[in-house]
Amino acid sequence: MRRLVLAALLLNPAAAFAEPPPGAASCSGCHAVPARAEAAIPPLAGRAPEAIAAAMLAFRRGEGAPTVMDRIARGFTEAEIRAIAAWVAAP
Ligand code: HEC
Repeated sequence: MRRLVLAALLLNPAAAFAEPPPGAASCSGCHAVPARAEAAIPPLAGRAPEAIAAAMLAFRRGEGAPTVMDRIARGFTEAEIRAIAAWVAAP
């Protein structure tokens, strides 16, 4: 069930923005959706891209106690993570 929810979120193309890097459109399925702001998922927009990339790379190394972000982060290369971080950080 949890996998299904995750897949649904990942497959939901969040927006018709111009050409997000691969994977970036999936982030807003959980992050920075106003209706879910109380769900303890930190917003990404407005954060420093380096901070987002650093957190993603740490998740990828298995640091911290993530619930889903470790699995998500492992699906991307470092270059992809940096491109996504720059995209989702844009105001
Ligand atoms: C399925 C929901 C979901 C999706 C999709 C998702 N995230 Fe997350 N994100 C979370 C949750 C929940 C956390 C809190 C850490 C945890 O439990 O894994 C988090 C934490 C983070 C953090 C750390 C923020 C902080 O303040 O510590 C970053 C950075 C992040 N996500 C980036 C991304 C990026 C980039 C994407 C798209 C590739 C993404 N997330 C997609 C749910 C999601």
